[in-house]
Amino acid sequence: LDDLLGEGVSGRRVLVRADLNVPFDKNNPGVISDDGRARAVLPTLVALRDAGARVIVVSHLGRPKGAPDPKYTLAPVAARLGELLGAPVAFAADTVGDDAAAKVEALQDGQVLLLENLRFNAGETSKDDAERAAFAAQLASFADYYVDDAFGAVHRKHASVYDVPAVLPHYAGGLVLREVEVLKKVTESPEQPYVVVLGGSKVSDKLAVIKALLPKVDKLLVGGGMCFTFLKAQGHEVGKSLLEEDMVATCRDLLSEAQGRIVLPVDVVAATEFSADAGHVTVDASEIPADRLGLDIGPKSVALFAQAVGSAKTVFWNGPMGVFELAPFAAGTRGVAEAITKIDGFSVVGGGDSAAAVRTLGLDESAFGHISTGGGASLEYLEGKTLPGIEALEK
Ligand code: 3PG
Repeated sequence: LDDLLGEGVSGRRVLVRADLNVPFDKNNPGVISDDGRARAVLPTLVALRDAGARVIVVSHLGRPKGAPDPKYTLAPVAARLGELLGAPVAFAADTVGDDAAAKVEALQDGQVLLLENLRFNAGETSKDDAERAAFAAQLASFADYYVDDAFGAVHRKHASVYDVPAVLPHYAGGLVLREVEVLKKVTESPEQPYVVVLGGSKVSDKLAVIKALLPKVDKLLVGGGMCFTFLKAQGHEVGKSLLEEDMVATCRDLLSEAQGRIVLPVDVVAATEFSADAGHVTVDASEIPADRLGLDIGPKSVALFAQAVGSAKTVFWNGPMGVFELAPFAAGTRGVAEAITKIDGFSVVGGGDSAAAVRTLGLDESAFGHISTGGGASLEYLEGKTLPGIEALEK
């Protein structure tokens, strides 16, 4: 971005790919529950605006099926961006249609426009190279330059991430650069001991990263919904807890390969149903009643995990330890997160739900070394995969 600003962008149109895929409050449609991703891209937007560029922002939101779907409109995000920028952000009701074209045309120097959700267009996520390229050409026709500051989406081979930079002069935004720098350090030369904390609901989503990390880590602490498949693999009954039957054998293999380096919860908070009002008890992880489901790790597990992260020089954390959105099941995530803030070393929070947890639980963001905006993207980086968005920028 500094290179682009150095060239002078006054009066030029700059297409900024941002990741404005923010979570919304489940009880209040249209109300953003965590605007961290919008804040993260502000420095780039402000720098371009202050340099007199005409800024066209594009993003996805959720996973609509390639056609307009009001549930996934970016309109509330345009309003929030305007508040954060202290100036109105224009909003186009389509991405490359007549409204977008008219609003791009009307854009003045230093103004910001957000186009409607990229994924309302089948070309954005198409597996067909020609279809993606055709959509990318429409987007590119709006601008003179392209800036990618959507770290959370660099692992997607999508038109706005991979194909637009093939046809426009392209630059990395400050957020993308900072994220890559931190994750590179953690991947290539983590200071030892290196402890990884993984949570979230599914083992299958994290399998590749577990396999890639196992040889590198001193300890891999597993909480969240995915711990029950591991507990089952250890021979415990898990009641009505989340379970991926088809992953039990894989978990058994991982546990044996890890030779004690995978650490599982020793107690869990088990409830009668998935609800904040459900009756709940703390039980040993080996004694989950048949009619209950585990919704958080228990206090003994928090102490065990805190001790493990306490001796680490590098900690990477991805995924909540329990259903932190429901108050009775937030203590596990809070306890482990607080332990991470106290380490005498470098900590990275790997995006998505864990970053949202840090903010919604009111934890001190500055106490973490780095809070990534990328969930899947940071995991794929740690796996050592080539990320299409980074590859396209490097070309
Ligand atoms: C994310 O939330 O990880 C990014 O915004 C990417 O979203 P996606 O998984 O729907 O591509």
